Amino acid sequence: MSPTPQAVYLNGEWCTSDSACVSVFDRGYLFGDGVYEVIPAFAGRLFGLDEHMARLSRSLEALGIVPPLKHDDWLAIFERLLASTDAPDAAIYLQVTRGAPAKRDHAWPDASVRPGVMATVSPIGAIDGGARVITLPDERWGRCDIKSINLLPNTMARQQAVEQGCDEAVLVRDGLVMEGAATNLFAVVGGRLLTAPNGPRILPGITRGLLLDLVRRKRLMELDESFISIGALREADEVFLTSSTKDIWPVVEIDGEPVGAGEHAGRAGPITRLLDRHFQALKTRRSDP
Ligand SMILES: Cc1ncc(COP(=O)(O)O)c(C=O)c1O
Repeated sequence: MSPTPQAVYLNGEWCTSDSACVSVFDRGYLFGDGVYEVIPAFAGRLFGLDEHMARLSRSLEALGIVPPLKHDDWLAIFERLLASTDAPDAAIYLQVTRGAPAKRDHAWPDASVRPGVMATVSPIGAIDGGARVITLPDERWGRCDIKSINLLPNTMARQQAVEQGCDEAVLVRDGLVMEGAATNLFAVVGGRLLTAPNGPRILPGITRGLLLDLVRRKRLMELDESFISIGALREADEVFLTSSTKDIWPVVEIDGEPVGAGEHAGRAGPITRLLDRHFQALKTRRSDP
């Protein structure tokens, strides 16, 4: 049975996923020449909207794509997409490409070619248990801070994880842990919370940023934004991943070995659970009318 068609915003028009048509010359389709965002909405209310829109602006600017819509236009699209779904929690997916010139050419088209804009919505499912991860060499390019739709190394890494019965791949460069294929990574080591620093090697995750702010504001624990070695990751007391659709996701196993020791080995640890409680409270506060 084919899935129920979803509402789609495409280049100024509303259509459904079974009828939406994209030009074969769209540079997103030909070159992966575009950027995207995933914005969660809990109980019908967008969460982290300003942070996501600021990152979208930075990604567009980095690729020299002129912002196609104003904030209020985006908001009207998001509201209509959210109204089209019954899911209590949902994720808006939006992407902006460099548009569809008359012919394929690596060089950018002139300014008369308007960016391609697409947005959809899909339900956010509940997470079932902790994450089992594998580690892999990071084979991505040098601008992982841009939320580009060009995700081939990320999809290949995630596929390897899935083929090994795991949930996520953790990407390692020169012996240092960067992030997951579609998540940021945190480790608890000796009471300190470590995560890779923002920069060209990782995506500045919105969940990562909101959690770091929360930890600082509430003085929950000592923070260290520096790279952790793969050896130290294997010895960490607790490890978790973050993303807009997964919140705080405990890692229970790395390359087949349980995370942590003693009674918490292979289970979500106490600090991960504490941070998750604070994060859930933040979501509720921000979702209050
Ligand atoms: C490579 C990568 N890192 C981190 C994240 C998490 O970012 P966010 O918290 O903004 O969803 C994502 C999300 O898609 C990602 O693709």
